[in-house]
Amino acid sequence: MAILITGGAGFIGSHTAVELLNAGKEIVIVDNLSNSKAEAVRRIAQITGKEPKFYQADLLDRPAMEQIFNENNIEAVVHFAGLKAVGESVYKPLEYYHNNITGTLVLCDVMRSHGCKKIVFSSSATVYGMNNPVPFKEGMPTSATNPYGYTKVMIEQILTDLHTADPEWSVVLLRYFNPIGAHKSGLLGEDPNGIPNNLLPYISQVAIGKLECLSIFGNDYETHDGTGVRDYIHVVDLALGHLKALSYAETHTGVEAVNLGTGVGYSVLDVVHSFEKACGKPINYHIAPRRAGDIAKNYADPAKARELFGWEAQLGLDEMCQDLWNFTVKNPQGL
Ligand code: NAD
Ligand code: WQD
Repeated sequence: MAILITGGAGFIGSHTAVELLNAGKEIVIVDNLSNSKAEAVRRIAQITGKEPKFYQADLLDRPAMEQIFNENNIEAVVHFAGLKAVGESVYKPLEYYHNNITGTLVLCDVMRSHGCKKIVFSSSATVYGMNNPVPFKEGMPTSATNPYGYTKVMIEQILTDLHTADPEWSVVLLRYFNPIGAHKSGLLGEDPNGIPNNLLPYISQVAIGKLECLSIFGNDYETHDGTGVRDYIHVVDLALGHLKALSYAETHTGVEAVNLGTGVGYSVLDVVHSFEKACGKPINYHIAPRRAGDIAKNYADPAKARELFGWEAQLGLDEMCQDLWNFTVKNPQGL
């Protein structure tokens, strides 16, 4: 019996693949490499000493998905595959809805026809929208402000409806906060195309000299130093959360939304200072206007993951920055 990892060559999927292999699980990876490289799969093998089965295929390609399920005994799916750039989704809405929603529909239909009814889905804290008070709790109303966010809200609804129609389904909706860091080995990490949108890849490229200066988007928020506060979580902690979610799904049917965050919020300046310690040099930054769509503070109430899964994040901000810096130094050109 194997676990299928969609998007397993990507940032979070590759780290999860490592932890599943280390836990002795059999895995199959499907990825179209639209935002990743086959090198990530080789590195998963290098770290674990185990070769994962890899299909370079698109979720939208139904015959290819059928073939994967025909050739493997898939017991559960961890579904990471999707497009994830918030800004890009605003000017490419059709691409985002088609890839993320239709991809999920094809996947679930093929799962259903093979009697595979366990899915762990990569949702996002973005579903808490702009109006909920922090800390975010799973029972709060969900909403979105951009096509990317809507794909997460909609897929949560689709998977919930699937369980309503057939209560044998086991659905875990993992709402990630801000995943950062890299594997301790320095072999795996985030490898964005072009100029990064997210804070940590941007800072690391400033530190390595690829980018000149970090723009800090606003210093007049109602936070301890005026800059935006987020719940950064080490990608390896996040990966381990998926193992717990899979164990839960093995023994429970139903639908559960679960936050994966630390419960601690750090400001942009806190992150800059932690990264400066990690890389041993100052980060060049200036204060820029607020970025459209940003909120002041965003952090999790992590209690449900502790109660349901017995999972809790272990690694702090300094370790996240150290591991990202180690990865950046070892892979100055990415993977
Ligand atoms: P990523 O882009 O590194 O990984 C996603 C992978 O999916 C990529 O390797 C890409 O090539 C693949 N993919 C995309 N569309 C596909 C398709 N149609 N068929 C096959 N493969 C396809 O992103 P990530 O940071 O690892 O994120 C993984 C998941 O977690 C995504 O669904 C993302 O929306 C979600 N998420 C990410 C974050 C974050 O900040 N990184 C936060 C919350 C949620
Ligand atoms: C973090 C903080 C910025 C870049 C995004 C998605 C969210 C989820 C995680 C997928 C904010 C500030 C950033 C920069 C800055 N992804 N910043 N200068 O926006 O919290 O979340 O990734 O689901 O949906 O929206 O992450 O890393 O972009 O920003 O000052 O160059 O850093 O304003 O306060 P965000 P981020």
